[in-house]
Parts: sequence; C-alpha cells; structure tokens
Amino acid sequence: MSFSFPALSGSPTERYADLASYAKALVDGEPDRIANAANLAALVKALVPDLNWVGFYFFDGAELVVGPFQGLPACIRIPLDRGVCGAAARTRTTQRIDDVHAVPDHIACDGATNSELVVPLIRDGELIGVFDLDSERPGRFSDDDQRGLEAVAAVFIDSLA
Ligand code: SME
Repeated sequence: MSFSFPALSGSPTERYADLASYAKALVDGEPDRIANAANLAALVKALVPDLNWVGFYFFDGAELVVGPFQGLPACIRIPLDRGVCGAAARTRTTQRIDDVHAVPDHIACDGATNSELVVPLIRDGELIGVFDLDSERPGRFSDDDQRGLEAVAAVFIDSLA
C-alpha cells in the first residue's frame, strides 16, 4: 500500500479540509492507536509548515507518556499538574500558547520552540492523551490552525477501536 498526499493549497479552510480527508484516508479501517498516531504525526509534520515537533502523549492512568512523534527526542512523562500538555489534559481544553516563554511551568523539550498548541484527546468522556504541536515561530497557531488540528485529533479519536 502506498499513500500520496499532494501539498495543501488554497485558503486555510480548504487546506485543513484536505488535511482532514488525508487523515481519514490514512487511518481508514485501522484501529491501532500506535499505528494511527505515528502516521498522523508524520502526515501533519510533512504538510503543515513551521512545526518543529508534532506528536502524541498517552495518559497511562497517572500521567502523560510520550507516544509516536516527529521531531527531536522529548520529555517522556508529564504529570497532569505540569506544563502546557498537563494543562490541556487536566482542563480538557485546547491550549494555544503564542509565547511559551511566558508560561511559567512550560516544559521545554526542544529549546527552539516558541509557540505551542495542545489538543486534549477525550473518548467517551475518558482522557486518552493529548496531541501536541510546537513551532519555532512565535504566535504560529491561528483560530484556523486550532480548528484544523482539532479536526485531525478528532479523526484519531474516531479511529480507535
Ligand atoms: N512543551 C510541553 C512538553 C512537551 S514537548 O513540547 C514535546 C509542555 O509544556 O507540556
């Protein structure tokens, strides 16, 4: 099996609609969370510009543990009371941070990161983990980016067995 995903073009809405349909095609018929997280991280890193880290943390019942990602090696375990990822998991709301250096308990995995978006992954009311994206560009994530990347997170959640 091979996949071909043309570069995204058009308005942000058009680009993220195409990204969501590529994401659905990539996980179609596959319920394995490691496989789908790995492929979705690779898809987003390849097609969405200006990202230095894209990946998943999974909740193990106590804390977040790093899962499939694209980027530099990252912090392995994040307690729910720490960092931007912990805040997303604890509050179950997307965290969009224009300047991570302004967040006192931000956990710097890649020192080049300046902005971050973290989407909580909730399935049937249960915390599965978070989808985390970092950028070297301050203020990288707009409303369109947030909506589009939340849609990719929803594709991941819907794919799970
Ligand atoms: N910056 C995150 C930690 C994860 S890394 O960005 C991959 C945080 O503050 O939770």
